[in-house]
Amino acid sequence: MERTSAARAHANIALIKYWGKRDGPGNRPAAGSISITLDALASNARVRFDPALDRDEIRLPDGADAARVAAFLDAVRARAGIGTRAEVLSRNDFPTGAGLASSASGFAALALAASRAAGLDLDGAALSALARRGSGSAARSIFGGFAEMRAEGDDPHAVPLLDAGEWPLSVVIAIVDSGVKAVGSGEGMRHTASTSPYYAAWLDTVAADLPAMRAAIEARDLTAVGELAEANCLAMHGATLAARPGLAYWRPATLALLETIRDLRAGGLPVYATIDAGPQVKALCAPEDADRIAAELAKVSGVKTTRVSGLGPGAHTVEPDAVYCLKS
Ligand code: DP6
Repeated sequence: MERTSAARAHANIALIKYWGKRDGPGNRPAAGSISITLDALASNARVRFDPALDRDEIRLPDGADAARVAAFLDAVRARAGIGTRAEVLSRNDFPTGAGLASSASGFAALALAASRAAGLDLDGAALSALARRGSGSAARSIFGGFAEMRAEGDDPHAVPLLDAGEWPLSVVIAIVDSGVKAVGSGEGMRHTASTSPYYAAWLDTVAADLPAMRAAIEARDLTAVGELAEANCLAMHGATLAARPGLAYWRPATLALLETIRDLRAGGLPVYATIDAGPQVKALCAPEDADRIAAELAKVSGVKTTRVSGLGPGAHTVEPDAVYCLKS
């Protein structure tokens, strides 16, 4: 029987970073992580399992990895006990190649669309564990607002902490024109884990930061959340810089943005930086301060553009017609 399903999911930014995997397949994290899901950056996926197809037909945004999606479809088929091939269409609502990672939103949307199209009706935990097989950070994008990836168990998954509406926060994303292709996160974390003398210390840092971040979120304490997020991100980059050879994701503008954020903070504005496996800087702040912070960050030399985002919802199904093809 032919079935079509479509879904939408939003990108997330980690406040406590996922940077290291356990041995073996399936992106099982070495430690937990905590993130916020963003409303401004979404991916859509439409999946149709069709017995008439003799191979998977996968249409993705430029730069996305079709082999990774094909392997993910195999995981969905294994779970559903089917061998049927699929047609997949995925697109992002934000410009690809603009330095905004889309594997989290992309695989979260795909996990929901593909599992439904395969006839599965998974709960949030099972869906999150499935999304993780596509990309570790995708497990968190199944949930909106604040989510925590738990590292325990053979098939780890994320859990929701707070819904988006329970504590509105904003993130200002400053896109740096790097002109340099970054080492992908999977490769970067493997290299860090196997060569950095600070990797063990990084895992100890995460173990201490997770309960502190949970408490800070529970207390809706922006200062504590921001200070922890900024420190945790710098520890991740410290371990990565100390790998052999050292891996530097930053560009000069990345450091200039970090300094500007600290200057704004010294001037009394509560704003905190976090940086993933690339040169972009994300500034965490209260919604009422976001436009002013975006204007300040846009002035930093080397910044291409800024975007402001609030917190967004978890993965949800949409009408298949909502996912159209911009080009074939
Ligand atoms: C720095 O989820 O992209 O953004 O599991 O190999 O797909 P894979 O890695 P990915 O790693 C994200 C790394 C990070 C931190 C984070 O999002 O927690």
